Amino acid sequence: MRPLYTRRMKVLGIESSCDETGVAAIETRSDGWPQIVAQALHSQVDMHQAYGGVVPELASRDHVRRVLPLARRVVDEAGWSLSDVDLVAYTRGPGLAGALLVGAGVACGLAAALDRPTLGIHHLEGHLLSPFLSADPPEFQFVALLVSGGHTQLMEVDGVGRYRMLGETIDDAAGEAFDKSAKLMGLGYPGGPALARLAAFGDPGVFELPRPRLRKLGPSVCEQDRAHLAAATQAAIVEVLVKKSLRALRETGLRRLVVAGGVAANEELRSQLDAACAAQSARVHYPELSLCTDNGAMIAMAAAMRVQAGVAAPERDYTFDVRPRWALDAA
Ligand code: KG4
Ligand code: ZN
Repeated sequence: MRPLYTRRMKVLGIESSCDETGVAAIETRSDGWPQIVAQALHSQVDMHQAYGGVVPELASRDHVRRVLPLARRVVDEAGWSLSDVDLVAYTRGPGLAGALLVGAGVACGLAAALDRPTLGIHHLEGHLLSPFLSADPPEFQFVALLVSGGHTQLMEVDGVGRYRMLGETIDDAAGEAFDKSAKLMGLGYPGGPALARLAAFGDPGVFELPRPRLRKLGPSVCEQDRAHLAAATQAAIVEVLVKKSLRALRETGLRRLVVAGGVAANEELRSQLDAACAAQSARVHYPELSLCTDNGAMIAMAAAMRVQAGVAAPERDYTFDVRPRWALDAA
């Protein structure tokens, strides 16, 4: 499917739902999907590391410090002036309330000053549509596996704004499972990438999980055992995700899978999904590695695609309500 609405539009996107301040400039085109013109990101990982996880109040304050300088940089690098911006998009939820309020407040203030409309975006819709920014964009319809720090969901996606929940985890999200396991093993925060790096040196068959083993082993075990444990943990998480994704493809009869969210950066998940889907003649699409974790481009992209598809109208009242808890199929 090609975009329905082809007027050229310049969209500034602001993401501030958790521990990354992301801003991006996107431009719609007459001959394909919108494209990134410029983007900037500030990660708060170093700041939260000392606490072993995200401290919401510190996150909000840091977004306050970062968001305007990042926005200025992005507009400059895009070669735009502020008055060129047609639409200011921001993450409305889900996420940390205080952190969301920073992005929403800045977006609405900026838009009001420029006399331009705004659009509040669902963070997971941003992730879900981020593969449309890749060199190999998917086509509708598809099954989406959303694997972030807070969510693991399988959705049937018929088009922009047409999402049907097929299933979600009732306990830890995939990213959370990586992060918690990594913490037990003394790997710091955020644990997913660290655990994946260590897993490369381990054999997933040495330890048999269930997880209670993790507590017994802790950070004091030898480095090789930690690597084996990392490999076993990663294998357990990946196996569940691959099995559930394949079942969703079978049940919907679809032959296209889109994987998005922070955990979509995991190489083991990518290679196992590639192999499993190839065996079923299904295709898999991922976001570019740098766009798997939170960023402003996916928010601007989702806004541009929603407007193009005619499923959302930009708003001009500049009041905003953030939604820390918000189901994607209710967006
Ligand atoms: O999408 P995201 O940036 O934030 C949320 O919306 O939650 O996802 C962050 C999550 C974290 O749990 C992080 O540990 C995980 O994604 N993550 C990874 C990898 N890179 C990020 N997990 C496993 N392997 C990775 N390479
Ligand atoms: Zn995210």
